[in-house]
Amino acid sequence: MAAVALVSAKGSPGVTTATAALAAVAAGVGVGPALMAELDPSGGSVQVLTGTMAVPGLVDAAGRLRRETTRSAIEENTTMLPPGVPTLLAPASSSIAESVIESAGTRWLAALRAVAPEVFVDAGRWEAHGRASSRIVGADLVALVCRPTVAGVEHARHLAPHLADLARRPVAVVVVGDRPYAPAEVASHLDLPLAGTVAWDPRGVTNLWAEGASKRWLRSMLARSAASTLAGLAQVAGSVTGGGPTPSHTFGPSGGPRPEAVR
Ligand SMILES: Nc1ncnc2c1ncn2[C@@H]1O[C@H](COP(=O)(O)OP(=O)(O)O)[C@@H](O)[C@H]1O
Ligand SMILES: [Mg+2]
Repeated sequence: MAAVALVSAKGSPGVTTATAALAAVAAGVGVGPALMAELDPSGGSVQVLTGTMAVPGLVDAAGRLRRETTRSAIEENTTMLPPGVPTLLAPASSSIAESVIESAGTRWLAALRAVAPEVFVDAGRWEAHGRASSRIVGADLVALVCRPTVAGVEHARHLAPHLADLARRPVAVVVVGDRPYAPAEVASHLDLPLAGTVAWDPRGVTNLWAEGASKRWLRSMLARSAASTLAGLAQVAGSVTGGGPTPSHTFGPSGGPRPEAVR
């Protein structure tokens, strides 16, 4: 994979957890340096989920990105949460998070990608006319995260065309849990490719935030399901250009706005 932006339609289906699990798997199995970013306009939640006083680096990063797109704006603002995964954390306040994310416009992905080859953006809940919608521009793929419930699917259904239009990149589904509906059924209802299913694994979630990509965590159901979802995401992204998993720099020329040069 290269850069994936994960979004949800409504409620709290587990976008932050799925993003962190994918980033930890990518970091833990040595796919390459991985980076996570909380670009959720409703506010960051890693700090709350981990119970730590982490520094929300997003505010400083946005201030610097407003002036120019530099790697250092990201590199100097990450926190190792989950352990072993450098993460750009958002402030918990939605009013601050939204305006800060909006202020750097389309520069986020370019700057993030300059720092690590594997980028996982927790883009949070998608509002069709949200001020910060440019945050997903420059991702290779958008993953719509939903629970396999009637409500989860119905909310997600209206969103997919809008996301594809904006990102000009493929949209795939990541289903969290497999009840009551089978993930394949959910994907066919949404008429989107299924990238994978993230297991419902409360213990795996607790250990992810406590241990990050430890050897023990990598054996959890959550980690194993995230690993196959990671492969599924790469496959969806690769199939668009007609190949297998493709490195980001060879992705098709027909995409949306590409990131500008990064210093
Ligand atoms: N795969 C999962 N297994 C078990 N619990 C989960 C899973 N994903 C999310 N949760 C739980 O659901 C709640 C919301 O998860 P979160 O990732 O913060 O959702 P979102 O980012 O969509 O708001 C948290 O309490 C989290 O621990
Ligand atoms: Mg969240």
